[in-house]
Amino acid sequence: MPSFEIAEMKSVLASVSLAALVTTACLASPSLAQSPVALASQAVPAEAVVRANALIARMTLEEKAGQVTQLFMFGKPEDFEAGVRAGSTGALLFVTDPTLINRFQKVAVEESRLGIPLLFGYDVIHGLRTIFPAPIGMAASWDPAALERGQTVAAAEARASGIHWTFAPMLDVTRDPRWGRIVEGPGEDPYLGAALARAAVRGFQGDRIGAPGRIIAGAKHFAVYGASEGGRDYDSVFVSDSQFYNTYLPPFAAAIEAGAGNVMSAYMELNDVPAAANAWLLTDVLRRQLGFQGFVVSDANGVKSLVTQGYAADERDAAVRALTAGGDLEMAIAPAANSGLAEAVRSGTLEESVLDDAVRRVLIAKIRMGLFENPYVDASKTETVLSDPAHRQEARDAAEKSLVLLQNTGSILPLTPGAHRRIAVIGPMADSVDDTLGSWVFVPKYEETVTLAEGIRRRVGADVEVTTAPGVQLRRGVPSMFEMFRPSPAAWTSAQAQAEFERAVEEAREADIVILALGEGAMMSGEMASRADLSLPGDQLRLVEAVKALGKPIVAVLMNGRPLDIAPVASDVPAILEAWYPGTEGGVAVARALFGDVNPGGKLPMTWPRSVGQIPIYYSHNITKAPTEQGQRYWDEASTPLYPFGHGLSYTDFAFSDLSVDRASVAIGEPVVVTATVTNTGHRTGDEVAQLYIHQRSGRATRPVRELKGFQRVTLQPGESRRVQFELTRAELRYWSAAERDWVLDPATFDVWVGGDSRAQLATSFTVQP
Ligand code: NOJ
Repeated sequence: MPSFEIAEMKSVLASVSLAALVTTACLASPSLAQSPVALASQAVPAEAVVRANALIARMTLEEKAGQVTQLFMFGKPEDFEAGVRAGSTGALLFVTDPTLINRFQKVAVEESRLGIPLLFGYDVIHGLRTIFPAPIGMAASWDPAALERGQTVAAAEARASGIHWTFAPMLDVTRDPRWGRIVEGPGEDPYLGAALARAAVRGFQGDRIGAPGRIIAGAKHFAVYGASEGGRDYDSVFVSDSQFYNTYLPPFAAAIEAGAGNVMSAYMELNDVPAAANAWLLTDVLRRQLGFQGFVVSDANGVKSLVTQGYAADERDAAVRALTAGGDLEMAIAPAANSGLAEAVRSGTLEESVLDDAVRRVLIAKIRMGLFENPYVDASKTETVLSDPAHRQEARDAAEKSLVLLQNTGSILPLTPGAHRRIAVIGPMADSVDDTLGSWVFVPKYEETVTLAEGIRRRVGADVEVTTAPGVQLRRGVPSMFEMFRPSPAAWTSAQAQAEFERAVEEAREADIVILALGEGAMMSGEMASRADLSLPGDQLRLVEAVKALGKPIVAVLMNGRPLDIAPVASDVPAILEAWYPGTEGGVAVARALFGDVNPGGKLPMTWPRSVGQIPIYYSHNITKAPTEQGQRYWDEASTPLYPFGHGLSYTDFAFSDLSVDRASVAIGEPVVVTATVTNTGHRTGDEVAQLYIHQRSGRATRPVRELKGFQRVTLQPGESRRVQFELTRAELRYWSAAERDWVLDPATFDVWVGGDSRAQLATSFTVQP
């Protein structure tokens, strides 16, 4: 580590307040692991510790093991009550009915020996009753404030139902759209991911753990789950430390700085050590380097799976090693591996103090949530919160912000209201409630969901005929595990399939315009939903061709959780609007965008490949050799994506100008202020996301060709200009160097671009002096 960095870091650590450290948490280096980072946002109230310790002093080993056991409530409630009463279950998940939550809580509080309340966790991913766009859609909004509002709504609905903690936000950066879980996360970029992480944590938790109407945020899956080999879910991950720190860690560091109370360890193994029992990950990095003070939960059955992975000898060994590595609570389908912990202490394979540390962290979460004072939820108020119309309004705004206009050749969009007498909304996504909502949705009011066909019907009114037909049925070859909660409809017979296809084409023939609603069913992305082939599933391309042959104007709306191989659609259909899984109000939002009531302004949070063979393809790659004249790396495929990272069109036009830096030359560690003007040069009000990218020209490591280091979504009237300003501080300019095995700042020249996507051309530069 260079001496200027060490000296600087020491002075930072010595002189700044804890609060200031929050913003520079990652300055702490692995080599400073002996002096762990202390974050004000992670500070635990002393009285909570005292109270937890007093309880621990009274607990039996079995009760301690129970406190660090969380069970899925699958099955009959009676089957779980005995464990709660005996103190062998400390937390439950998958209970959303407030009456049932109160029933379990009463057993815990009134019938267990120590009366310790249960903690109820749940996958509140993009809403509970009111469903917001899937996380990848919220990432496409490039609007952290909208995400924060959405997760505030989700928290309110969850808390009003008796839920205390969510397994969200999912912060797995990924550069592989074959991986199904890309739909649940922030996309490919660490900087965007970090901004979204902060917003989500604030939305769920408010300004402190235990704030009224809020729940504990659980950052997951720690860490690097998004880099599984071949995009296959749960498979091994091998990444360098440089990739770990520079690409995958920043969203987690941001969530922890924002005060996240929980972290979930990932399923897969990282460089041959399973995340759930990886001491380097859960203790050195998470607690010492990032300053995390909350509790760590395993992923579902993740502790038991240490045996399957060939890491632990048996379940007791698994429980001991997960706990010793820094895991606290085990999430399991009964029986939990942790039931063996008491015996492990007695036999000397586990130190009781390690178990006590884990129990303390879980108890502190319960204390901070106020559960000892208020264990119950007022079930008489739940429905009022869940049906709050303001929640739907937020969901609609969020859905509107998430829309990305991928292409609009000939400005076919927006449609002119009143110009069409008959509109055909065709395709498997046209009127599908489940696919409008997306995955990780278990208790919405399905009947309140507005599909695209319904949204268009409402928008155009009774004078216009809106017809709809799926045309194609989408089914997975292997059923999704989520079908146990909501079975898929029966498969069409081949005669039915033929009839439905023809009906859809017929509806298209009768219409003045066709809205083709294409994509990937909600169960085709998400957990255990990786794909080797990203083409539009089912017979959708045949449907596109048949409709195209009719010669009608066509607009495509996509609902999907990842970039798909849509090259044939992109060449056949002039306008494509990416709607992701837009949620409860999705149909309203998309219809408003199609008719120009709202102007799409979202941007892609990941690079969109032309074909699967290009994967991984991401904007922030290194220059490893001078490109050929054509920039080609393959002879059979372009090296460029179909749509770049940050791409998204609008019904108006924007221009960037007057890019400047406040100082062309700065000393190492000094900030640079970058300013640019963005102007709406078109004729409609619209949103543009000003994006700032940098490139470090030389240093102790090769640095990516471009890295996002600032963004701002602005709304501009026609002709209006806005100055946007970004500050590049040491947080933006530093990186983790494999040579130094530490965070460094290099003296170097930096290129700067500001524009509307990752191919921004408007450039300047500045130099950091040694
Ligand atoms: C497994 C998933 O990986 C995780 O994201 C989820 O929170 C848990 N199951 C609980 O449902």
